[in-house]
Amino acid sequence: MKININDLWIYFGSTHEFSTNNYRVKTLFGRSVVVYSDSKEYFSFENYCPHRGAKFFTDEAGFSKIVCPFHGWSFKANGDLNAIPFENKMYCYEEKNNLNLKKFKIVLLGVFIFINFNENADAIENQFTTEMIDDLKLISNNIDDSYSLAKIDAKCSWKQMIEITHDELHVPFVHSNTLNRKFKYKPKDYSGGDVGDSHASTINCVKDLSQKFTDPWDVPAHEWHRLVEATFGGKVYLNWYFFPNLHMASADGGITFSYENLMPISASETLIEYFFATAKFKTKYLNKRSIHNEAIRIGIGVYMEDVKMMENISENQNLRKKYGLNYGRYESNIKSWLNLEVDEC
Ligand code: FES
Ligand SMILES: [Fe+2]
Repeated sequence: MKININDLWIYFGSTHEFSTNNYRVKTLFGRSVVVYSDSKEYFSFENYCPHRGAKFFTDEAGFSKIVCPFHGWSFKANGDLNAIPFENKMYCYEEKNNLNLKKFKIVLLGVFIFINFNENADAIENQFTTEMIDDLKLISNNIDDSYSLAKIDAKCSWKQMIEITHDELHVPFVHSNTLNRKFKYKPKDYSGGDVGDSHASTINCVKDLSQKFTDPWDVPAHEWHRLVEATFGGKVYLNWYFFPNLHMASADGGITFSYENLMPISASETLIEYFFATAKFKTKYLNKRSIHNEAIRIGIGVYMEDVKMMENISENQNLRKKYGLNYGRYESNIKSWLNLEVDEC
């Protein structure tokens, strides 16, 4: 199966990232993407001035009108040209059709923002199942708007970071001293064939590339958990992968969430935004910061174990191609994933 990134809905970020800014810029699959909010609507376009090609935003985020720093062209929130200083004397354009920003399609699933480089993009409903979309909307309704963010520069490809999330058997080894102490992975029995677990499914169409995994887990409760509504009822470990670049997990049935935005830099480097958020508090709660600090410390500790493992794999990437791999039955999903060809920009 071959996929072109230009045809996909790509995760950008959440509306919560706009609480003190009206724009954010992120490099997604090699393109500098702006999302701009006029406080009613969100718009997206390439960070490229149609005059002589400058980036009109050079900071990652801020609060500003859209004005190019090179010769002062300004644009409306929707990316249409607003004004060109000294236009009549200096430019004398006879025709101005081409002078708007290069706009990207944008869709919000609850608070989660997706963009598409293709102006004739398929509906996002053709990329994600109704269940996956409904889960994002449900999470949006119940997630607190304060979040913590850590940025990780991983020396491996974004595909390798997804490879490890699809690998159930890495938990007792890679996380032997952390996650597995609490989670206690129990191997499933694939000897009789597919055990019907979603980990073992194969990829036949674009919707199969995004997956939801659930495992029952009675997470150790914290005192503060009673102050929030567990989005999915608690006592279940949930994992979602929204192809290509959003991974989400909730170890406690929707009390806390961690989610990662994978932003590829090259075949062996990925910038990762790792977010942590809790469900909404039923009453004003003053100690949120300490919950966040503790959760992100533990979460990043576990996540960096994955990163280190995949940096190890990345160093052997050429040998993997040369010698090939030996998949067992539990890895049918991973095999399909690694055989997938993704044309990046
Ligand atoms: S390059 Fe932007 S105004 Fe000239
Ligand atoms: Fe892991």
